[in-house]
Amino acid sequence: MKLHDILIIGAGLAGMRAAVAASPDLDVAVMSKVHPVRSHSVAAQGGINAALGEDDSWEAHAYDTTKGGLYLGDQDAIEAMCREAPEDILELERLGVIFSRNEEGRIAQRPFGGAGFPRTCYAADRTGHAILHAMYEQLLKRRIAVYEEWYVTTLIVEDGVCRGVVAWDLIHGGLHAIRAKAVILATGGSGRVFLTSTNAVINTGDGMALAYRAGAPLADMEFVQFHPTTLKGTGILITEGARGEGGYLLNTLGERFMKVYAPQQMELATRSTVSLAIGQEILEGRGVDGCVLLDLRHLGRQRILERLPQIRALAMEFAGLDPIETPIPVRPGAHYQMGGVRTNQWTETGIAGLYAAGECACVSVHGANRLGGNSLLETIVFGRRAGIRAGEYVRTVAPQALRNDQLTTEQARVQRLLAQEGSVRAWQLREELGQTMSLNLGLVRTQESMSAAISAISALTQRAASLTVQDKGQVFNTDLVQALELECLLDVAETIVTSALARQESRGAHYRSDYPVRNDQQWLKHSLIRRTFEGTVLTHEPVTVTRFPPA
Ligand code: FUM
Repeated sequence: MKLHDILIIGAGLAGMRAAVAASPDLDVAVMSKVHPVRSHSVAAQGGINAALGEDDSWEAHAYDTTKGGLYLGDQDAIEAMCREAPEDILELERLGVIFSRNEEGRIAQRPFGGAGFPRTCYAADRTGHAILHAMYEQLLKRRIAVYEEWYVTTLIVEDGVCRGVVAWDLIHGGLHAIRAKAVILATGGSGRVFLTSTNAVINTGDGMALAYRAGAPLADMEFVQFHPTTLKGTGILITEGARGEGGYLLNTLGERFMKVYAPQQMELATRSTVSLAIGQEILEGRGVDGCVLLDLRHLGRQRILERLPQIRALAMEFAGLDPIETPIPVRPGAHYQMGGVRTNQWTETGIAGLYAAGECACVSVHGANRLGGNSLLETIVFGRRAGIRAGEYVRTVAPQALRNDQLTTEQARVQRLLAQEGSVRAWQLREELGQTMSLNLGLVRTQESMSAAISAISALTQRAASLTVQDKGQVFNTDLVQALELECLLDVAETIVTSALARQESRGAHYRSDYPVRNDQQWLKHSLIRRTFEGTVLTHEPVTVTRFPPA
C-alpha cells in the first residue's frame, strides 16, 4: 500500500500552493476528482487582494476585512493573511503569473467592494485562470505526483490521527487505501447545495463532509455569501471587477438604486449590502424580469475589451447581448461558503495530521461576509502555510501500519450503493435539495423557512438511502460519484441550516427577517458544529479580537 508524506486532496489553488510550498525532499502527492486545471479556482475572475500601493498598508487591508466581515473574523488570522499578502503576490509573479499592468508597468490594482483602497490585483477578468495555470506548471516542474480523477470516500483516522484516505479511481474503477503521514484538505466550496450558484458542478462540499464525518468541527456554516451579480437564468458569475471598473447597477426606472442603500460606496458596498439591495429592488417591483441591470456601456468598447473580455464573452454566449451596447441582467446567486473545517492560523484541524486550507476551511478570515478578492488570497496564503506546517509535522511522525480495515468498509458501502434498486436517482434528489436551500436559505431567512428546510433535508436523506445507481460498471461511473457527492451535499446542507437556525440575529450574509438586527452581545461568536456518536452537537466559541474592537 502506497505511503506518502503528504497527500493533498484537491488541486485548486489552495491544494497546488500547498504542494509547491512543501519541502522538495518530501514525498508529496495531490489527488483530485478532476484534472487540476479544471478545478473551480479557474473560474475566479476579478482578482486577488494585497496592499501593494505606497499609500496602502496591510493594516488598512486587515481593517477593511474585519469590518466587511462584521467583526466575526478572527483578527489574528486576518492579520497574518493581510501582512503576508504582498510578498505572496510577488512570489506568484516570480512563479510566472502574468498580472495586468498599470501605466508605470507595475501590477495593476482595481477597486473592489468594501475596500478603502484599490488593492485587487488582476489578470483582466481571468485571474483564477492565470494563477491556476502558473501553479500547475510549478507542479509539473517539481514532478509532484497527481492522482488525477480520484474521488475520496473517507479519511482514515485512527486514535485521533489522520493516516490517509480511501479513494475511488474514477478512470479504472475500484477503491484503494492510500496512506499518508499528513492529509491536507483543499477541496473548495459547497455552492452546489443551492440550485443556482456561481460554483462549478464539482463543488459539492466533499472535504467539509469528510472532516465532519471524521469528527472535526465545522465553523460558521450559516454564512453563505450571495454574489450580487450573477447572469440571468444561469447563475454564471459576472465579476465584481465590472463594478470595480465603474459599472452601474440600474433598476427598471433607470436609477442607480445603490444611492438609497449605500450613498457613499454605491455599487462598491460590501456584497451582503449590494445583494440585499438588489433583492429589495426586485421585491418592490423595480426589477427587470427578476433581475436588475449592470450597465457597462459608459466604460467604452476599449476598456471592456481590455479589462472585461470574459464577461463580454459570457454575456454574448449565455444572454445573447453585447455589454458594449446593452446592460446585462443580473441577480444575486450563491457564491461562497465562509464557514468550513475549523482550523487555526496554521491550517491545523482538531485531528492530528489533518490540515485544511482554502474555501473548505474556516480559518476565519472572512467572518460573516467575505470581501471580493480575499478568497484567492486565502488560498495562496493558507495553502502555502498548510504545505509548510504539514511538512514540519511529517518529520516528527514514524510510519504506522493501519489497524482498521477501512478499505473493506468502504467497499461494502459502494457495493450497497450499486446494488440498491430504488426508484429515485441521485441527480433528482440533488435538484430537490437545491430547490429547498435556494427557497428557504437564500438572501432572507426566517425560523419558518429554515425549519421547513430541516424537515426537507431529513426526508431527502431518508430517500437517498435507497436511491438507485443505474450504471453498475467500474469505468468512469459518474452516476456512482454523484450518489457519493449527494451524501456530502446533504451533510453540508444540514450543518448550514442547523447553524443558521440557532443564530438569532442578522449579520453579513446571514439575514433573518425575524431577527433583523446584529446582536454583538449574544452573537459575536463562532458556531461550531460536530458529529458525535450521540448525534450532531452545536456549540459556540469566542471570536479573536486583536486591534479592531467591534463597532
Ligand atoms: O466578482 C468576482 O470576481 C469574485 C471575486 C471573489 O469572489 O473574490
